Amino acid sequence: MIERSASLLFIFSLLVVTIGGVVEIAPLFYLENTIEDVEGMRPYTPLELTGRDIYIREGCYTCHSQMIRPMRDEIERYGHYSLAAESKYDHPFQWGSKRTGPDLARVGGRYSDAWHVDHLKDPASVVPVSIMPKYAFLSEQRIEPTYIESLLKTHRMVGVPYTDEMIESAKADFRVQADPFGDTDGLMERYPGAIVSNFDGQPQLTEMDALVAYLQMLGTLVDFSTFTPDASR
Ligand code: HEC
Repeated sequence: MIERSASLLFIFSLLVVTIGGVVEIAPLFYLENTIEDVEGMRPYTPLELTGRDIYIREGCYTCHSQMIRPMRDEIERYGHYSLAAESKYDHPFQWGSKRTGPDLARVGGRYSDAWHVDHLKDPASVVPVSIMPKYAFLSEQRIEPTYIESLLKTHRMVGVPYTDEMIESAKADFRVQADPFGDTDGLMERYPGAIVSNFDGQPQLTEMDALVAYLQMLGTLVDFSTFTPDASR
């Protein structure tokens, strides 16, 4: 009967799909165990966040994923599989599925800053068979934290817990992270585990500094030597 009337059939199908959808999706917003809270995760520092924007702008994600699947070959190559909580401050997330190059979810600390700078300037200079493009211009693009407060506020709007203090200190935190001789106490208190370094080796702040700061943080926030999946629930 209903099958004979296209519009009735459409309305009833929609109704059935809606009910099914609500039943499946709604509980996810209320169940505690769907929100995994993992020690060590913190919002990105202003410099890391800027580096992340450069990563997205340059399309690094078109060749690199940031998600280690829970399979033996991946874990042996890259390290502990990715946790949902590790990308909870990513807007948008960088999981990806296209791997022309290796996964970068745990690349932080694997190489020195100088290696990253050489590699980004001319990948074949350190990995002779590399087909990765050159990004040498990043060392010449100077950066200023002109809009950094607005950037942090925008991320706060979508749920990243940046505090008023973090936003007020954003300009100073941005600069001091690339200055090993600066007063980094405030930065370290606000962003535990932040890596302070003159990433690109030049006195001025460049896009290279921001990008390397971001890469060196990837996968280092959660301490997997003490992490047990069950204890985090
Ligand atoms: C056209 C594809 C392509 C793009 C775009 C690309 N890469 Fe790569 N990347 C590769 C390949 C292939 C490798 C492996 C060879 C090598 O190490 O250079 C690689 C390697 C790397 C490595 C070393 C990873 C490891 O564990 O050894 C890093 C870090 C990296 N890329 C960062 C970046 C960043 C940052 C960008 C954006 C600025 C970028 N890549 C853009 C293809 C790409």
